[in-house]
Amino acid sequence: MTIERTLAIIKPDAVAKGVAGQIITRIEHAGFKILAARLIHMSADEARGFYVVHRERPFYGSLCTFMTQGPCLPMVLEGENAIQRWRDLMGATDFTKAAPGTIRRDFASSIEANAVHGSDSPESAAFEIPYFFSSLELCPR
Ligand code: CMP
Repeated sequence: MTIERTLAIIKPDAVAKGVAGQIITRIEHAGFKILAARLIHMSADEARGFYVVHRERPFYGSLCTFMTQGPCLPMVLEGENAIQRWRDLMGATDFTKAAPGTIRRDFASSIEANAVHGSDSPESAAFEIPYFFSSLELCPR
């Protein structure tokens, strides 16, 4: 088993609904270590930069507007196979296709307002984690 780090975000829809605490409880019960977390309100430029990989997609503009509509909670999770395990806990991007018991199935309200984000590969985690957190904030403890 590989110990990995992944970037998770509790998105503005979930923070606004007041379910961030329930999502964090699920993260803790699943055995992830939360290495860092910060409540932020992204600017348009910050959202565009974070989702730059999707810049050619038709939903890019709307997604960036959605991510700036209120505070969100990026965090770094660590654990065995953290990238895939966090994606399994989140469920499918489209919450109507997400398995019962997953975070998106329980808390998302649309394919865009889908409650949480997670890195989809080690390469994206390597881009996304330092986008929000410096190495000083990720000291081993
Ligand atoms: P996320 O896992 O953060 O990755 C990209 C985001 O784009 C996705 O979750 C959704 O919030 C948003 N999105 C909006 N429309 C779509 C779509 N049709 N397909 C995939 N992602 C979408």
